[in-house]
Order: sequence, then C-alpha cells, then structure tokens
Amino acid sequence: MRMVDLIHKKQENQALTQAEIQYIINGFTEGEIPDYQMAALNMAVYFNGMNAKEVSYLTMAMVESGDQIDLSAIKGIKVDKHSTGGVGDTTTLVLAPLVASCGVPVAKMSGRGLGHTGGTLDKLETIKGFNFEIAEAAFIAQVNQHQVAVVGQTGDLTPADKKLYALRDVTSTVQSIPLIASSIMSKKIASGADAIVLDVKVGDGAFMKTIEMAEELANTMVEIGNHLGRKTVAILSNMDQPLGFAIGNTLEVNEAVETLKGKGPQDLTELCLNLGAQMLLSAEKVKSLPEGIEMLQAQIDSGAALEKFREFIEIQGGDASFIDNPEQLGKAKYQIPYLAKKSGVVSHWVADLVGEAAMVLGAGRAVKEDEIDPVVGIVLKAKVGDPVQEGDPLAIIHSNREDIDDCLKRLDQAIQIADTAKELPLIYKTID
Ligand code: URA
Ligand code: CA
Repeated sequence: MRMVDLIHKKQENQALTQAEIQYIINGFTEGEIPDYQMAALNMAVYFNGMNAKEVSYLTMAMVESGDQIDLSAIKGIKVDKHSTGGVGDTTTLVLAPLVASCGVPVAKMSGRGLGHTGGTLDKLETIKGFNFEIAEAAFIAQVNQHQVAVVGQTGDLTPADKKLYALRDVTSTVQSIPLIASSIMSKKIASGADAIVLDVKVGDGAFMKTIEMAEELANTMVEIGNHLGRKTVAILSNMDQPLGFAIGNTLEVNEAVETLKGKGPQDLTELCLNLGAQMLLSAEKVKSLPEGIEMLQAQIDSGAALEKFREFIEIQGGDASFIDNPEQLGKAKYQIPYLAKKSGVVSHWVADLVGEAAMVLGAGRAVKEDEIDPVVGIVLKAKVGDPVQEGDPLAIIHSNREDIDDCLKRLDQAIQIADTAKELPLIYKTID
C-alpha cells in the first residue's frame, strides 16, 4: 500500500477499506506516514466525507492505537456521558452522584479543560484533599462498592487521536463531521464505555452553530456506536446562552451542590434530569424516560443524591464540608456587579462571549500551560427572557484583579436587551 494512492482514492471520493484505514492510522501513529501526507488525506476527508463504515473503521483504528481500559470487572452496564462542550456546563458533577445514587455504576475518566473554564478534574481539584490519581484496580473496587469514581486519565489512550487532532488544528480540518465524530467516539470506547449518552450542544457557544450540523454530527456518532456494539443516544441541547448561572470553577462546584439539593438553576436541572434518564435507560435501570426522570427527581427530593455526592468526595479523600458551607471553597477578592444599561427583556447572552469574559479573569486556559484561578468567574443574575430595569445587576463578576476592563468589554458585546425575547428551547431533539 502507498499513502499517496490512498490520498488519491479519497480525493476521487471513493470509500477506503478497513485495511487501508488501519494502514493509515498505524503508519501515522508510528511516525512512518509524515504529517504532510496525513494533512492531505484529512483535507480530502474534509471535502468528500466518509461513509458510515469508514467512520467506524477509523474510530476502531484510533481505539486500537493505544491502551484500552477494561471495565468488565465492574458489575452492570457502564454508561458514559459526553458533552461536546459549552459554557458553564456543570452536568458531569451533578450526574455522576445522581445516577450512581440510583445504583447505576459511574466509572468516569475526566480531563482538564482548554477553554472558558476548566474541565471536570479542574473543578474537583478545587476541593481540599480530593484525589483523582487512583490505580485501575482501586478504581474498579471503588465503583463496585460505591457506584461512583472520577479519575484522571491513566495510560496512553488514543494516541492516534492526540496526534491527528494537533495536525487538524493547524491545517484547518477540525470542522469535519467524520473526523470530529471518530475523535470523540474513539476516546469514549477506549475508556471502557458499554453505552454512551451524548450531549451535543448547538448554538453561539458551541462547536456546532446550527441544528442541521449538530444533527449530522449526532447521527454520525450514534451510527458509529451502533456499528461497534455500544448503544449510543444523543441529545441536542441549546448553547446560545450559558447553562445555569455560574461560569467558573468553584462557582460551578457550588452550583452543582445547589442542583443536587434541588435548588439549582432550572435549565441545568432539566438537562441533568434528561441526560440522567437516558443514562438510566441505557443501563436498563428503567423502561422509559419519564420513569427515569421520576426516579432521579425522587433521589434529589429525598437527599439521597446529595448524600452520594458527599460519599464520593470523601472516599476520594476530599473535605466535603463545602457542601454545607459554600464559602469554604474560597472567594475572589472582588465581587463586582455588572449592571443593565437600559430596561427591557434580556434577548441574548451570547454564550461564548460570556465564556471569554470568564476566561480573561483567569477561569480557563487559552493554552495547556496556563494556570487556572479556581475562584474567579461570572454568576449571571438574569437569563434570556428575564425582564430587567436599568441599573439592575445582570451578573456578578468574581475577580482577583481590580482591572476588569477586558471582561467588561466582552460582557458588553455578549448582552442584548430588547423589547421582547424569543424563547430558547433547552432540548431540540433526541437521536437514537
Ligand atoms: N472534540 C474532540 O474530542 N475531537 C474533535 O475532533 C472535536 C471536538
Ligand atoms: Ca453553570
């Protein structure tokens, strides 16, 4: 086989075989196929796409490029949830204990985040003593005993994806549905999921700006899952404005606690109930979504979900006293209200601009080496559809710096106040 012939084949819009795709991924991972040939192939895929079989072969070749986690020693169906990324998305912190409290195992590997705020690990790390470096045997034992564990990635999962993503990033080939879908699914499969629930975000603050694109991505991922024997469902959810009120690491941990207490933001709560119900359904714990939602709501109402969260923090060595005392996680030096400049109804709160406003305070990383300031961020006081009077606080800026001009500039661009607002649906559709 010669790479140049395979590039030509894809350029001619022909389907690659499984053997050809394995040859490409193995050769590229081993360094035998140079970046310039791989970049040319990516560009051909970008323009001509891949069929369902090709995308499945590509996903599996990436899974097999590195270590795979074997979770078979954990009793029950292991369901993993993945979000394609939004602003202020705290769902994992809520869902892990909530779903585990129903007796469904949650064995989660999480990463640090690049972007507006940190990833799940960065958020958990704000809890004093919390340890996520757990060896595989202890991780499995913990899930069998307590139904929940969240650990950092161990081993070398999907090295092909790491190398491929870095190349796509500098060759303008990130925005390709087959490449995104195989990238996401390979990581979920390598980390041992039997079933996968995807939260595909749509809107200003998301990768996918339109429902049509999000639907195509969701369909592709669901198809991959089905081809590879992992039951996969996708929810398309709105990301025109941030999810919940809080954007920032400790702020989001506290928001997750409020949500587990049944006092969280309405949109975050509703999304968690829907994603959680899909997880219970995929784990065969319930027979329908309404039954799942009812079970989860009962776990919140009885306090069982919150108690599972406390248990989870404590078994991983964390000091859980912040659950009763949110200030214990720390507080930024300044709390500065951001005021409405006119009266009306909030019609836009452009998610990625609010995310950037939090990032410039230090809530997130622009590059891998950046340090996160755990306590800074933004808490929204009004969301789309809320009426406001001139001078009302629209948000509270939590900053450790006095100079917040950069943040204010972005908030000014993000907010729109009009006479009326179009209602934003939270969930567009479910694909299974
Ligand atoms: N997220 C991923 O993990 N991979 C992509 O290609 C795009 C988004
Ligand atoms: Ca939030």
